[in-house]
Amino acid sequence: MSEDRQKLIKSARQLIETDRLLGGQFIPAAAGGGSAGPAAVPAPPSMGLQEKAEALEAIDVAEVRPCVNCRLYQARTHTVFGEGDPDADLVFVGEGPGAEEDRTGRPFVGRAGELLTKMIEAMGLGRRDVYICNLVKCRPPQNRAPGPDEIEACWGYLIRQLQIIAPKVIVSLGNPATQNLLDTRVGITKMRGRWQKLPLIGEHLAGIDVMPTFHPAYLLRQYTGDNRGKVWDDLQKVMAVLGLKVRGKTN
Ligand code: URA
Repeated sequence: MSEDRQKLIKSARQLIETDRLLGGQFIPAAAGGGSAGPAAVPAPPSMGLQEKAEALEAIDVAEVRPCVNCRLYQARTHTVFGEGDPDADLVFVGEGPGAEEDRTGRPFVGRAGELLTKMIEAMGLGRRDVYICNLVKCRPPQNRAPGPDEIEACWGYLIRQLQIIAPKVIVSLGNPATQNLLDTRVGITKMRGRWQKLPLIGEHLAGIDVMPTFHPAYLLRQYTGDNRGKVWDDLQKVMAVLGLKVRGKTN
C-alpha cells in the first residue's frame, strides 16, 4: 500500500472515531467484530440511473480499456470492468478476471461465475439486479492472485465504481477483496459472516455495510455442506438487510 493511502486511511480512521465519539453515524470497521446491520451512510450527490450508467461507461471506455498502469495489460485479451445495475443496492467484489473473463470481457462468467450466479439467484435476484466487479480489471497470468502493486494501480477504478453505484451493501468475495476493502490482514475464515463497515477509502464510501464471504472459487474447491451453509448464512444476512425474502438455497 502506498504511503499516501496509508496516511489517508489513518486520518480517515481518526475522523471516523471522532465522529463516533461525538455521536455521529460512522462506526469503524472492526476486524473480527461486526455490527448488527445497516446504518445510515452520508448520501453521495444524487445521480440518476442514466447518469450513473454513463459515468461508469466513461471510466470503462476512456480509462480502463486503454489502461497500462501495471504489467497486467501486457497479456490481457480484454479488460473486465464490471457489469450489472449501475444503481444496484448490492455489489459483489471479487479478485480479478480468469481465463473466461479475459476472453469475454465480462466478470464472473467461468465456473466460479456460474456458482456466483446461482448464489445470486438463490437470493431471489438476477445478475442484472446487482453489480459485479473485481479488485483488478485485467487477468493475472496463470490465475495467480493480483499483487499489491497491481491492486494499487487499479484501486481508483474500483473506488469510483463504488462511489457512482453507491450501494447499500457490498459482498466481498474471498481474502483479497475483503482485506483490501476493509484494510485488514484478518483472514476470510474469521471475517466471513460478520457485518463490517467500509472505512473511508473514498469520499462517501465510509460506513457502507460489507459482508465478507468465501470466494465461489474456494467454495468450488471445498464444496462441503458446511461451507455451502456458511455462504448461504452470509447471503441470508444480506437479504435481511436488503429486505429480500428467502426463496431458494445454494446447493
Ligand atoms: N472471475 C472473476 O471475475 N473474478 C474472480 O475473482 C474470479 C473469477
